Amino acid sequence: MTAGRYIVSLDIGTSAAKCILIDDTGRILARRTEGCPCAYPRPGWVEQNPDDWWRAACRGLKAVLAAGARATDSSTGAAVAPDAVAAVGLSAQMHGLVALDESLRVLRPAILWNDQRTQKECEEIHAAAGGWERLLDYTNNAMLPGYTGGKILWLRSHEPEVFERARYFLNPKDYIRLRLTGDMATDVSDASGTGLFDVEHRCWCGPLLKILNLDGRVLPRVYESTELTGAVSPSAGEDTGLKAGTPVSAGGGDSVIQTTGTGVLNRNRLMSTIGSAGVLAAGLEGFRRNASPNLQIFCGSSPRHWHAMGVTLCAGAAYSWFSRVFGAEASGFEALDRGVGDSPPGAKSLIFLPYLNGERCPYTDPAARGCFIGLNLSHGLGDLARAVMEGVIFSLRHVFEEMKPLVETESTESITEIRSSGGSMKSPIWRRIHADIFQLPVVTLEGAEEGGAFGAALAAGVGAGIWESLEDSFGVLKPASRTEPSPENRGLYDDLFECYRGLYPCLKDEFKRLDGYSGG
Ligand code: XUL
Repeated sequence: MTAGRYIVSLDIGTSAAKCILIDDTGRILARRTEGCPCAYPRPGWVEQNPDDWWRAACRGLKAVLAAGARATDSSTGAAVAPDAVAAVGLSAQMHGLVALDESLRVLRPAILWNDQRTQKECEEIHAAAGGWERLLDYTNNAMLPGYTGGKILWLRSHEPEVFERARYFLNPKDYIRLRLTGDMATDVSDASGTGLFDVEHRCWCGPLLKILNLDGRVLPRVYESTELTGAVSPSAGEDTGLKAGTPVSAGGGDSVIQTTGTGVLNRNRLMSTIGSAGVLAAGLEGFRRNASPNLQIFCGSSPRHWHAMGVTLCAGAAYSWFSRVFGAEASGFEALDRGVGDSPPGAKSLIFLPYLNGERCPYTDPAARGCFIGLNLSHGLGDLARAVMEGVIFSLRHVFEEMKPLVETESTESITEIRSSGGSMKSPIWRRIHADIFQLPVVTLEGAEEGGAFGAALAAGVGAGIWESLEDSFGVLKPASRTEPSPENRGLYDDLFECYRGLYPCLKDEFKRLDGYSGG
């Protein structure tokens, strides 16, 4: 057995915890997904029990280590024992709030990234800083309703007895770290997503904490993503099957570390994820000042890198909704894909706005609605399905338009390709639509479906000395598909995109009026 060639990595997602075991060639030897339930105690509220994350993590870790013990290492012919694991990588959904008392007991369910309860607190924070533009001077980000900072203020005003007892606040991945190692620590990307972090100088923003009258001691110590923060404790070793003393790496928030896991650190590539939500991200080689209330600029996975992204709230979820509501689920996604294949690019000039759950970027508007625009008697199910796929990619291109000033160097031509991940990119037609609308090659990678777990594994491998740097670790990435854009579709999609982006400004007042009736 070769000691220390393996990495175990975790990603605590919103619906499930993913766990993988990889070797130093990037090969995934074992994987396990364990579901985690969400609770929706009121409209717009989303919570999870941190102990459910821990139980799912323990089951996942035990399962991949058991599979590793049965696996045969390709080069040495030996099984992978826990003491051959060089480090543990950590990733999770960002922005969630875990409140702990003096004895490190969880005080209430965690409030998640997609919970909408803090609009008022976000406005209070903007006002306290002198407006969202002034808040950029402190954190380089406006306070979006998902962020942790607004949740802490919500707790202070709505559950003062819980707030009084709270001694520490952690994000989801760092609660798992606490259970694994006993250490209170985070990394710069998750810290950025609290909205309380000085993203330029990579430290907690003391002046903002002072304005908000928050005690900095409630926040954990911050590390760079590739640093090691502690080691698995003997009791966590018993719970998980990991060897006590195995180093645990700082890791990163899912959207950031997942971008790193596709090899995107610099501006020459974009990363897109089409999961339930859609993310368009780019790496930045140095700090860039944010100018948008809807774009997120966070610390990246290496000390020299920052990360720019915009999130469209309904991407894969729009297609799932469509197939469920229009009965295509019965005939299966493949049949629906065939229907899309029979529809021409542009879906006979039918446009879909994917705002089925409001929108975050480039418009922050909880009242925005989904629409088909341009229906006529010639349209069939396949045209509607194609319009949904195209609408989701138009919404990512819309995010890209917002991001362009940040990622452009001399021209957008400097971006060579999009590295794409998420379940929807298994569809060859959707990959083609993505390539054609952006007029850039779309590349998928093996392992990218593991979300943040793969990127966190690379960061852990750097911390453990398996690779010299993240750039060095990218040598293990293996392309699974590459779709070149068709130049003949450029003109059509450019025209339709112009039409797409003209629609929201015309409809936004009507969306607001419709929203007024939603209550009853
Ligand atoms: C990032 C974001 C989501 C969550 C859940 O800002 O809100 O990507 O991290 O995956």
